[in-house]
Order: sequence, then C-alpha cells, then structure tokens
Amino acid sequence: MPITTCVFDAYGTLFDVGAAARQAASEPDFAAIKDDWMVLAEHWRQKQLSYSWLRAVAGAHTDFWEVTQNGLDWALEKTGHGGDPALRERLLALYWELQAYPEVPGMLAALKAAGMNTAILSNGSPEMLEGAVSSAGIGEVLDVSLSVQSVGIFKPDARVYDLVGQHFGCDKAEVLFVSSNGWDAAAATGYGFTTAWVNRSGEPMDRLPWTPAHQLRDLTGIPELAGV
Ligand code: LAC
Repeated sequence: MPITTCVFDAYGTLFDVGAAARQAASEPDFAAIKDDWMVLAEHWRQKQLSYSWLRAVAGAHTDFWEVTQNGLDWALEKTGHGGDPALRERLLALYWELQAYPEVPGMLAALKAAGMNTAILSNGSPEMLEGAVSSAGIGEVLDVSLSVQSVGIFKPDARVYDLVGQHFGCDKAEVLFVSSNGWDAAAATGYGFTTAWVNRSGEPMDRLPWTPAHQLRDLTGIPELAGV
C-alpha cells in the first residue's frame, strides 16, 4: 500500500531538545552551565521520558509539561544547579520556543507539495506543541498536531498510535511514522506503521521485540522513503 500519511514525533525529531540548555549556556547570566549544559540536557531528557513511561505503567497520567518540569528539577539537582530558580525559569521558557532542525521546513513542504498528509504525534500537550510549531514557523506545512492528551496516556501505548487512523481515516499500512526515539519507532513498528528512526548521533539500536524499518541520519531522506 502506498504511503499517504507522514507522521512525526515532536521532541528530538522535528525540534532540537538540546537547544534550550545550549542557548541558556551561551547567555552571560547562565554561565554557570557553560561547561556541563550537555550533561544537564541529557539528564533532563532521560528523566522526562522515564517519568512518562512510569506514569503510563502506573496509571498516573499528567500533562507532559509537568513531566518536563519534574525531569528538569531532577537534572538541575543532579548537576548541582538545584538552587538557581532563574536558570530553571529560563530553561523552561526556552522549551516553548525550540528551533526545528534546519531541514524540517523544506522536507515538510516537499511532502505537502506531493499531496501527503502531514502530522505531529507527540506526548506534548496541545499548548506546548502549538508553541513549538509556531516558533519554528511550520504550521503551514502540517495538517495537524495530535497530542496524547486526548487519550490520557503516554507513548508507546497503542491508543496513542490509534489517533492517526482516527484523525485521517487511513490504514496503518499507509502511514510512515518518523521518530528520533528508537523505542518510539520500534513500538510503532510493532503497532503496524512503516517506521523510520532518525538516529542523528549514531546510537545503538534499542533491544526491543520490534525494529524500525528504516534508519536515517537526518530527515532529508523522508520524502524519498514516502515515495515522493
Ligand atoms: C514526543 C516525545 C517522545 O514528542 O519526543 O512524543
């Protein structure tokens, strides 16, 4: 079945999640993190994701914004920056205006020009996604941002992936799902989507029961994979 619908994870896939800590570290007011911003960003991301999985397993769903703040608080304490409320506030503010990776606008425009459906499918709350989409200026080339908020559980629960078929009325086999999170791409393979894992930093493959169908270093090859 030909691909009709290209669906993208948001954080780390379209939007550069490391950009918040990198930007703050470059500002004179936050020179305190100039040497360890990468470690801080990594802890922040890993805790944010761990908390999303733990809450899904425990049936304790909350807004992704709360999970994002909880992950940051752990990461700040871990790296010795727990007593810096101005830094916390700056990092959280920057999370609402993350930049898209440079190839994103052109890649999405190519998909739209070929008549593809295009969407975000993300743990992010609708408000967070709206902020990121508008600051990246990609609203025109996306049909919709689908948030887990409407099903009340985080990825990789199948009810999240169900949102795509419910919105577009398409078959799973028509969907190319793209994520920089190996576990997200793997789980979406198990669900029945054709998947692409965007592995920018050459991470090892996650040891899970499913494997992404394709692996890319960035998003430039997506239109070709979609048959455009
Ligand atoms: C998302 C996270 C998992 O956007 O990156 O859903």
